[in-house]
Amino acid sequence: MKIGVVGASGYVGGELLRLLVVHPKIEISMITSRQKAGEYVHRIHPSLKGFIDLTFSPLDMEKLSNSCDLVITSVPHGKSNKIVKDLYNRGIKIIDLSADFRLKNPKDYVRWYGWEHPFPEMLSRSVYGVPELHREDIRKAQLVSCPGCMAVTSLLAIKPLIQNNLIDIEHIIVDSKIGSSGAGARANAGTHHAMRYGVIRPYKPAKHRHTGEIEQELSLIAKKEVKISMSPHAVNIVRGILTTNHTFLKKMVSELDLWKIYRNSYRGEPFIRLIRDKKGLYKFPDPKFVVGSNFCDVGFDVDEDNQRVVTLSASDNLMKGAAGSAIQNMNIMLDYEEMDGLKYTPLTPV
Ligand SMILES: NC(=O)c1ccc[n+]([C@@H]2O[C@H](COP(=O)([O-])OP(=O)(O)OC[C@H]3O[C@@H](n4cnc5c(N)ncnc54)[C@H](OP(=O)(O)O)[C@@H]3O)[C@@H](O)[C@H]2O)c1
Repeated sequence: MKIGVVGASGYVGGELLRLLVVHPKIEISMITSRQKAGEYVHRIHPSLKGFIDLTFSPLDMEKLSNSCDLVITSVPHGKSNKIVKDLYNRGIKIIDLSADFRLKNPKDYVRWYGWEHPFPEMLSRSVYGVPELHREDIRKAQLVSCPGCMAVTSLLAIKPLIQNNLIDIEHIIVDSKIGSSGAGARANAGTHHAMRYGVIRPYKPAKHRHTGEIEQELSLIAKKEVKISMSPHAVNIVRGILTTNHTFLKKMVSELDLWKIYRNSYRGEPFIRLIRDKKGLYKFPDPKFVVGSNFCDVGFDVDEDNQRVVTLSASDNLMKGAAGSAIQNMNIMLDYEEMDGLKYTPLTPV
């Protein structure tokens, strides 16, 4: 299969190329960047030197659709929808990394992004790209929309609690910490090293845009409206997310029962590891131990005094949070093994 990447000069684009150059079943046929057109990949992504000798092409929709069976779009939200719509109309399979097709209700784009969706009819045609929630729909989809990087960690940690009707669905607190690569390759005054180094910076303590997609997906599981309160923070790492979710039990559940629930929920899932140990270095999920891999590590602790379950989930924002999820979805859409091109052990120490 011939794969194209739109926005291949960005951080997620670079990560997609890192995975695609060693994927056993595909060929990269076209990669685009408007500003780096004509440049060799290794000039922009030096770590790929020796793995790929393509140059970036300008964004030419005709050429893209003639040379690719599937295109992964990795451009900023608000900029992706026209490109995706064009490819969709030409019958190409698409995996979109932006937020432009994640939400199902057009009104949610006004609420969370501040703009009217130009193609509301397309929203019901896209599948939210979390295999642990929608694997069978992804298999049949022409358009898959990958989740927000913090959203997916939160969803995977909370899903078993909602599926088993254990928690108050109106009071869920989601606290995410994310590394600097989450902001993309384009620098600004706040991401400049002198300003970014050493920070623990709340950047949208209320009404962060990922709230919309987490509520949408948890509500589908609960079959009722779920409310979450989300506060993300930028922290002093390059890759990685740790999400801490505070949830409140309707009635007390033992830790052992919770273990059984989480094990049942994720049995056979290739990229979910349950983490809870009393000994050793790895007692709870920690992004340090997933970097470079497609794992989302999930764990929990119980606070009996407050009937609270604290769930924790860690992932690499460029992998399970973006490019890794895209390749996992691609494998499902193309009927490959789900772990093809994704069998990476995490890098440690980093
Ligand atoms: N970084 C993460 O951890 C992460 C995680 C999950 C999802 N995402 C999402 O993935 C997408 C890419 O993120 P990123 O971090 O890789 O961003 P980035 O580093 O800023 O890269 C953006 C890419 O899009 C291209 N681009 C920008 N504006 C464009 C336009 N109007 N038309 C066509 N191409 C355009 C850029 O190249 P040219 O300007 O040269 O064309 C570049 O290749 C975003 O939607 C982001 O929200 C990112």
